Amino acid sequence: MKLTESEEAMRDGRDGPAVRKAMDLLVRYGEALGAERLVETNNVCATVGSTLPFLRDYGDRHGGMDAIFSEFSLDSSEVVPIPKVKVYSSHLQQGLDPDHAELQGMSQEVVKVYRKSEAYTTGLGIQPLNTCTPYQVGNVPVKGEHCAWMESSAVIYINAVLGARTNAEGRESAGAAMLTGRIPYWGLHIEENRFGTHSIELGIEVKTIADWGLLGYWIGEAVQENIPVITGLSHTPSLPKLKHFGAAAASSGGVEMYHVVGLTPEAPTLEAAFGGKPPRVKLRYGEAERRKAYENANVTASDAQIDYVMLGCPHYSLEQIWEACQLLEGRKVHANTSLWIFTPRSIKALADQAGYTKIIEDAGAHLMTDTCSALGRVLPKGVKVAAVDSVKQAHYLPAIMGIQCWFGTTAECIEAAATGRWTGGLA
Ligand code: F3S
Repeated sequence: MKLTESEEAMRDGRDGPAVRKAMDLLVRYGEALGAERLVETNNVCATVGSTLPFLRDYGDRHGGMDAIFSEFSLDSSEVVPIPKVKVYSSHLQQGLDPDHAELQGMSQEVVKVYRKSEAYTTGLGIQPLNTCTPYQVGNVPVKGEHCAWMESSAVIYINAVLGARTNAEGRESAGAAMLTGRIPYWGLHIEENRFGTHSIELGIEVKTIADWGLLGYWIGEAVQENIPVITGLSHTPSLPKLKHFGAAAASSGGVEMYHVVGLTPEAPTLEAAFGGKPPRVKLRYGEAERRKAYENANVTASDAQIDYVMLGCPHYSLEQIWEACQLLEGRKVHANTSLWIFTPRSIKALADQAGYTKIIEDAGAHLMTDTCSALGRVLPKGVKVAAVDSVKQAHYLPAIMGIQCWFGTTAECIEAAATGRWTGGLA
């Protein structure tokens, strides 16, 4: 791999042992991928904390937070002192919400570890956004900006909707990028790799957030790691619709990039979306495909009695909290059911101020931050059947927690929370 003078100096130890190890890791990683060079980045989103149990244990056994960073972000069993990050870096979601620890079944000991980890990462200069949706809370890269982001739902959003450029990074490459401001130049950093491969013609209207989730779920399964180009849209989808679409497509497949002709920034025309080449595959999304996606999303569910409703995957926007409040205001969550809604911390602060948190709490529900049920493995005690308005959560939660999970609209989920029963179905 060809390195610049400054990159060579970093590799040779000019900036200390951690940066040397980070550069060595990026070179090995880039060479394995066939990258000919690195590219500068000033926007990294990653998880580097230690709130998951095996990381907490590792830190205890090997000498604390520098040991965790060395091993899991720099691939180094030798513990090196970690300097402050070189570039703009944000922390993704965590393993728990420290303000609702008891409710999530976490002890104060675990909260202490969380606080210690957060003090360490903010001390390195990593901003505690603590969400899978950094683009909702101020980290909004621009078109063409080279980034190094983890989290599949965020990766697809910034590539497709914002026109930024990132591959789905891992903890190691993103940690190394924080210390060096570099990432291998391959995959979606390169213009030619961003063109569409599969044409998806919409034969039906895709209206609601749930509809967009189902479309994404079907497309992900159909195209796997390719790049779909969607045509036939009859309206301009909102941020939550595109967020749910991307999260679903990245769950059933490995989609990291898509185009919607006339909408997304790299698809002003069909020709531009495909880079002047014909599509490799042509597909059509109609009623039968929508039904299939719905059945797949609900494959684990059979019992109508609902113990738990989870909203906020990916983390809810303020608009979605407002919508949920409109459905919830004046109602009460059923005695045998829990309702937890997840959002980024900074949006929760606005929800507190706008009175939404009070509406949620008055109904007997909870507005939580930092984590989610699938990622943090946090559920109310004894849950056997859940309901969600996110196809991504419906995809992962049953597999991770061994429970049943219904997927439906936000309104169906709130109805289930209030009545304790699932009455949803495909409209
Ligand atoms: Fe976010 Fe958890 Fe969903 S981290 S994208 S809410 S699985």
